[in-house]
Amino acid sequence: MQDLGEGSLDWVDGRLRIVDQTRLPETYEVLEIHQSADLVDAIRRLAVRGAPAIGVAGGFGVVLAAREHGAGTDDFRAAVESLRTARPTAVNLARMVDRVAARAAEGPKSLLSEALAVRDEEVAASLSMGRLGAALVDELVSQPDAVTALTICNTGGLAAVERGTALGVIRTVHEQGRLALAIATETRPLLQGARLTAWELERMGAPFRVVVDAAGPALLARGMADIVLTGADRIASNGDTANKIGTFALAVAARYAAVPFVVVAPESSVDMDTSSGEDISIEDRGADEVVKVRGTPIAPEGTGALNPAFDVTPAELITAIVTDRRVVRLDRGESLRSVPPDP
Ligand code: MRU
Repeated sequence: MQDLGEGSLDWVDGRLRIVDQTRLPETYEVLEIHQSADLVDAIRRLAVRGAPAIGVAGGFGVVLAAREHGAGTDDFRAAVESLRTARPTAVNLARMVDRVAARAAEGPKSLLSEALAVRDEEVAASLSMGRLGAALVDELVSQPDAVTALTICNTGGLAAVERGTALGVIRTVHEQGRLALAIATETRPLLQGARLTAWELERMGAPFRVVVDAAGPALLARGMADIVLTGADRIASNGDTANKIGTFALAVAARYAAVPFVVVAPESSVDMDTSSGEDISIEDRGADEVVKVRGTPIAPEGTGALNPAFDVTPAELITAIVTDRRVVRLDRGESLRSVPPDP
């Protein structure tokens, strides 16, 4: 079977290929997506997931939609709309779909070259975040040669295109020979930490442990991690950050334990048009994912559930935001406005 390496998706020989993340870690399967509606379905069921990855996939989805319907037709516009709204919280999806669709009048070649540019920019962004993030870890922890980092969800190559955001920083620290331990919270309900982050850490040969979500805050309170590194689905202009449900609890515990809490995300996840976390739409994914674990019921039949997929961590709990083009030290009074991105 074709292997996309550490990555989540690619455009090969005119076709979009994605790793079906719902089947990992047991089965590594690469899906070929031919129609934009199939991509919408793949995004909704989290076959492709993670803010940067769905942004890149969405860009290629516009190329598929133009092939099927002809750019500029009503059907094309409807397909673009269902791509951009397939998931609401990560700003990357609508932003990248809009960016690529804006080239529709220039013809299919132009659409494809924009989608490929989006992909290449995210690959470069991951490398840059790894470098900037690892340097910041060095500054923030007391023993930079033996770092224990706690992380949530999956923010690696599977969530970006290659390497990733927070997990990309952990990868870089590991490559520098400085990672003592990565602690991954399992990340209920869909277990991105246990299934995907563990899979990636294993493949990179890093030392790691998976813990249940409830253990994260307790481990921080006991001084068992030097730093928390998380991704983001959307960063509002005041620094409030939406990320996987459970992130906020880690931030509260990190503050209690005086552990640095660092958000790592590309500029494509920074949304200066959203003024604060209150304005971020939080996806509710319905009861099924909560009352079942991988299809097996764990609650009485008919049990209702709340299933917010994300939460918002207020800027005041965040030590620093690392993007591919800047490090913003919120703990030192800096802000996204006072520290503009490097050109
Ligand atoms: O629901 P998911 O799995 O798409 O959620 C992903 C996250 O919350 C990630 O932390 C975020 O997208 C950043 S990924 C580099």
